[in-house]
Amino acid sequence: MAERMMVIGGANGERHEINASMAVRHGMIAGATGTGKTVTLQTLAESFSRMGVPVFMADVKGDLSGLAEAGMENPKITDRLGHMGLSGFRGSGCPTLFWDLDGTKGHPVRTTISEMGPLLLASALGLNETQTGVLYTCFRVADDNGLLLLDIKDLRAMLKYVSENSKDLAEDYGLVSTASVGAIGRQLLILEDQGAGGFFGEPALVIGDLMIRDFSGNGVINILDATRLVSASPRLYSIFLLWLLSELFENLPEAGEVELPKLVFFFDEAHLLFDQAPKALLEKIEQMARLIRSKGVGIFFISQSPLDVPDEVLGQLGMKILHALRAFTPKDRKTIRAVAESFPGNPDLDVEEAITQLGVGEALVSSLDRSGKPTPVKRLLIKPPESRMGPLEDKEREEKISHSPMKAKYEVLIDRESAYEILQKKAEEKDRMEEEAMRQEEEREAERKEEKASKPAKQGRSRQGVGEAFFKSAARSIGSQVGRSIVKAAFGKSISRGLLGSILGGLGR
Ligand SMILES: Nc1ncnc2c1ncn2[C@@H]1O[C@H](COP(=O)(O)OP(=O)(O)OP(=O)(O)O)[C@@H](O)[C@H]1O
Ligand SMILES: [Mg+2]
Repeated sequence: MAERMMVIGGANGERHEINASMAVRHGMIAGATGTGKTVTLQTLAESFSRMGVPVFMADVKGDLSGLAEAGMENPKITDRLGHMGLSGFRGSGCPTLFWDLDGTKGHPVRTTISEMGPLLLASALGLNETQTGVLYTCFRVADDNGLLLLDIKDLRAMLKYVSENSKDLAEDYGLVSTASVGAIGRQLLILEDQGAGGFFGEPALVIGDLMIRDFSGNGVINILDATRLVSASPRLYSIFLLWLLSELFENLPEAGEVELPKLVFFFDEAHLLFDQAPKALLEKIEQMARLIRSKGVGIFFISQSPLDVPDEVLGQLGMKILHALRAFTPKDRKTIRAVAESFPGNPDLDVEEAITQLGVGEALVSSLDRSGKPTPVKRLLIKPPESRMGPLEDKEREEKISHSPMKAKYEVLIDRESAYEILQKKAEEKDRMEEEAMRQEEEREAERKEEKASKPAKQGRSRQGVGEAFFKSAARSIGSQVGRSIVKAAFGKSISRGLLGSILGGLGR
């Protein structure tokens, strides 16, 4: 298969290329703060775009939107290009789509509760094992009864339902503790406060819309604004990106060996993904990284230290771009030694020493050759991007969003009938039945009183007996729980009128 090489940078007047086909073996960009990680990401992303490969990236610091506009040459850039045997700076922007979970700085990205699934949702909510079990029950009960879980109010309605019908559901689904339901409800509130409310709903993001090219064949760069999300809810940030990966995995066909990746995914602040992730989630990430390769998707993890990425994932990475690391403490020095050992050797280069000496925009680079063998590590200046370094002005961004082909499709929220609406309708129906039964009973009672007044002391059956007979038949004909409610109501006790309080039968049986 043909190799597709891309210029990453150079040294000593010579340019250096890496094999873009091998991006599906994943990569890492690491380095201390201010050493050039974001600019390297930008250079890689635009190179992929020009080769026709669509890109997805989360913009954590708000400094990636410049990809959409042409950069300007300056003497530093000219000088840098000279060091890598390149001349003639050509400023040019890339086709770019802007996305934002809450729709402020890009098209809203939404998914449904069902598509997110219980495992990721439990992680987003920080649930313990018992609470996670309850969440799984909600999904199962909804599934078994054809109830769509689209948004948070659907999930709330479902939680309320399983809680209020826990006894009836216990046989098929196991016990559901109301305390767990309460805890999940509270966590949902927190998640909504962190801005997740708008994220769950429709129209859900269609993965194919992240994988388009412009008319000239350039891959579109999708930039997700994550500036607020990362500080409000780092957990939701990482869960969202994981969800995206799993959607890609489920929706893309097997790609086999590819000449170029189908999509490249840049995961900035990657440590957020791994920090505090429960074991089940970590296993899922490792598995995802391993499997998604076969779908032609390449992932780049960007982090301050390569050791932020777990060994199982680190061991799989084909491309490594390491900017300078700082050696302030003995722990730092230990990290540097470990990182140096993880690089393929080069007799002409003392990797451990170089790591601390690299200048800004300079990196140790190792990739894979055509056969998948690591190439010797090189010390390189990274090529400056052709697009603008730094963010767009708000006006420029708004302009791009307003002309985007995705605007019409994603801008308006759709709220179609799902679990919440269906359960609410059923509850209202039952309420009406209860009211009707009570009204009929009142009428009969009035008739009986009238009859009694006109024919005193002639009836054989007592008043109590008639009432009992009615309650029994009501219970039989309407259903045991409504029947019980009527009995309670008739004896002066309150009828439960909650959303799901009087729902019987059908669901979950
Ligand atoms: N390859 C490069 N070509 C030209 N200039 C560069 C290059 N790399 C870095 N720079 C310069 O260094 C600055 C800092 O780089 P960058 O923002 O990429 O660092 P960073 O490692 O992402 O920092 P942080 O950890 O704070 O996000 C850039 O704004 C740019 O001026
Ligand atoms: Mg950065």
